Amino acid sequence: IPSRNMECKTKFMITCMLFTIICSSVSSDEWKATVVKSIDALVGSCVVVPCSFSHTGGNLPSSRLRGIWHEKNDKKSNIYHEDPILIKDDFKGRTKMLGELGQNNCTLEITQIRIHDNGPFCFQVELVRTENNDPTKDKFSFVEDCVELNMITEPPKPTLIQPKTATQGEPYIVTCSVIHTCPTHVPKLTWNMDSTKVIVHHKDIKHGNWETQSILTVIPEEKDDNREITCTAEFNGGLKSPETFTLHVKRIENCNHIIIPAVVGIGTALLFGIFCIFMEKKYNMWNRLSRLSRR
Ligand SMILES: *[C@@H]1O[C@H](CO)[C@@H](O)[C@H](O)[C@H]1NC(C)=O
Repeated sequence: IPSRNMECKTKFMITCMLFTIICSSVSSDEWKATVVKSIDALVGSCVVVPCSFSHTGGNLPSSRLRGIWHEKNDKKSNIYHEDPILIKDDFKGRTKMLGELGQNNCTLEITQIRIHDNGPFCFQVELVRTENNDPTKDKFSFVEDCVELNMITEPPKPTLIQPKTATQGEPYIVTCSVIHTCPTHVPKLTWNMDSTKVIVHHKDIKHGNWETQSILTVIPEEKDDNREITCTAEFNGGLKSPETFTLHVKRIENCNHIIIPAVVGIGTALLFGIFCIFMEKKYNMWNRLSRLSRR
């Protein structure tokens, strides 16, 4: 009996080991997608949804991968597919796969955002088997990684950063910035003032948010005191939002108002003095001449 028992134990262990090996080999082909959970989208503008995926079996070439974006509550409702016929009518021509699938990038662009484009939208990748003529595909769906669009109808106001006061004749720097989610058609920032210099920056501030910044340098004059400076952001689609502040210019106290009258005063006095001396000399000469003539 003890030997029977041993045999059972061994058999059981071998079965367990085999089972473990089979299980691990099956689960080693693991797929994962990382999609930003929620992103703001301005109606009329565009939105770029960051998305990436991974496959434990190593990188696969783009030709063997097919990326699809569909609505979460209807897997048949594609908002993006490489075959345009398979895209839902109201998304036709508005979606584009910006990411390279071969680089595990499934970043999606949606243009001309409409008020009902809320989503959620989910990414799904299909592995296309080409080794045999069998057209069956392995499908992997990442419904747990979907994105929701937060609809915004009013364009965000730009933020202005500026020193409290400007000094006449000295460079004055104002920064205007706006956050957006449409890096393929960035907002334009414009100023209502001629400047010596404008520098524009675009910065990725993560989770699909971008910042456009315009740095204005002006050399204010006395007449610019109390002038309103406006930075206007114009978003893709045409929506505009301005932000304004009042410029306060500190005058430089120069000495002209003292020097000019002083120079004029001294000059006049000098001229008058010279004139007096001249007249006196002339008068004396006259006297002498008239005395001589009398003799
Ligand atoms: C994915 O592709 C987009 C669009 O080309 C790009 O902006 C982004 O940097 C890429 N992401 C990664 C992680 O490479």
